Amino acid sequence: MTSADRGKEARKDEIAELARRRGFLWLAFEIYGGAAGFYDYGPLGALLKRRVEEAWRDFYSREGFYEVETTNIAPREIFEASGHLESFTDRAVVCKHCKSFFRVVKGVDVSEKCPECGGELEAAGEFNLMFQTRIGVPKGALKKSEGYLRPETAQGIFLNFQRLLRFNRDKLPFGVIQIGKAYRNEISPRKSLIRLREFTMAEAEVFVDPQEKNNHPGFEDVKDRKLRFVPSDGEEGEKSVGEAVRSGIIANEYLGYHIAKVEEFLDGIGIPEDRMRFRQHHQEEMAHYARDCWDAEFLSDRYGWMEIVGVADRGDYDLSTHASHSNVDMGVHVQASAQGEGQAEAGKAKAKIIPHVIEPSYGIDRIIYALLESSFYEEQVGKEKRNVLRFKSEIAPLKAAVFPLLNRDKLKIKAREVFQKLRDASIFVEYDDSGSIGRRYRRQDEIGTPYCITIDYETLEDDTVTIRERDTMEQVRVAIAEVKDVLLKRE
Ligand code: GLY
Repeated sequence: MTSADRGKEARKDEIAELARRRGFLWLAFEIYGGAAGFYDYGPLGALLKRRVEEAWRDFYSREGFYEVETTNIAPREIFEASGHLESFTDRAVVCKHCKSFFRVVKGVDVSEKCPECGGELEAAGEFNLMFQTRIGVPKGALKKSEGYLRPETAQGIFLNFQRLLRFNRDKLPFGVIQIGKAYRNEISPRKSLIRLREFTMAEAEVFVDPQEKNNHPGFEDVKDRKLRFVPSDGEEGEKSVGEAVRSGIIANEYLGYHIAKVEEFLDGIGIPEDRMRFRQHHQEEMAHYARDCWDAEFLSDRYGWMEIVGVADRGDYDLSTHASHSNVDMGVHVQASAQGEGQAEAGKAKAKIIPHVIEPSYGIDRIIYALLESSFYEEQVGKEKRNVLRFKSEIAPLKAAVFPLLNRDKLKIKAREVFQKLRDASIFVEYDDSGSIGRRYRRQDEIGTPYCITIDYETLEDDTVTIRERDTMEQVRVAIAEVKDVLLKRE
């Protein structure tokens, strides 16, 4: 191991330890020994996650998308129709020696030796990843009461397609979002937040006339953005989104537009640009419903490149399969294209099509992991070491902390007043009067709080406070009446 590797090892242990100690992430069922693939968010983790979800919701509602909330459990027939019962499987291998199971990454050769003990591996078959349950008391055929926890939130949107179309006044295109839990009975989830059995997805389903896939109204705004692409059959390199679509690396404008939007969102919440790339799936790793798929990948110190978002072109797979299994028409009347056969008066004639779906699908927990890892810094301040989580102000769990400089009643009363005022203005702040001021700063740096507000004797005379900024550690003196505006302006 090189010293750089040792540095990385130490750093990742520090992050895991910090996340546990400061209430971001806890192993679920810990008092009973825990269970692989299940994590709980502590108070700060829950806040951080909520901020990311709020940022995501705002981002896609600015795109004009509608939000829905559909069920976590669905009857067997839904997943028979969607293809998940038959195809949502992973191949497993088992170690002959220690009996550990491992998932075989699609399209990748099985390594012959067990990563745990070096023993020989052998094929252990295909496993469906869905959790099965029972709905109600079984009557008659057991199949009738069979249900499954959803492995993706998307199906709930497809099942409501007709109603959503009507909600959009029978017009295409439109987009629908959903944030919620999904469940996958992973074969061997050994990687903290990266492979969970219960996790949060934020999915957007964009319904578009297949003839219009190369005519995205917003494409002009994103076409010059340069991104790092890894095409399935080409060299990794940077290209503009426009160039990637023009040269056929990305199949159509809708896909290109949504890849650019994923990058914009990730960049906006603080995933560093130089640790992000878009990798196209090889045919054999593609999900059964996808005709093309690009993963937004984050370069982790611990896991290397890892998927945090998938952007798939699902074609008409889902609507067609639900139409044929449910006997419900999922067709949409659209203006026939000028090239449409036998349309003498193109522009007036109507055609009936099954919309295609472009789907950006975000793994929220993986994004939280990427944010923790990429925001963490260890710094030397004078003789002291400080840990800092350099979260962007918009996603930091706490916006500010309020301190009395000393443990004196007069200062504490004033500090409580300032604290309450900010709370009343819906700004998420914490009050802390324990320990030295230096220690209190360090505690806030470590959880990524962007501002610390200190009340001192001058405050009692002129109603001003100091605001100290987390990254620069600079302090400014501000009137109490202006604190709220200063915090909000500095976002
Ligand atoms: N809906 C995308 C996925 O299941 O990964």
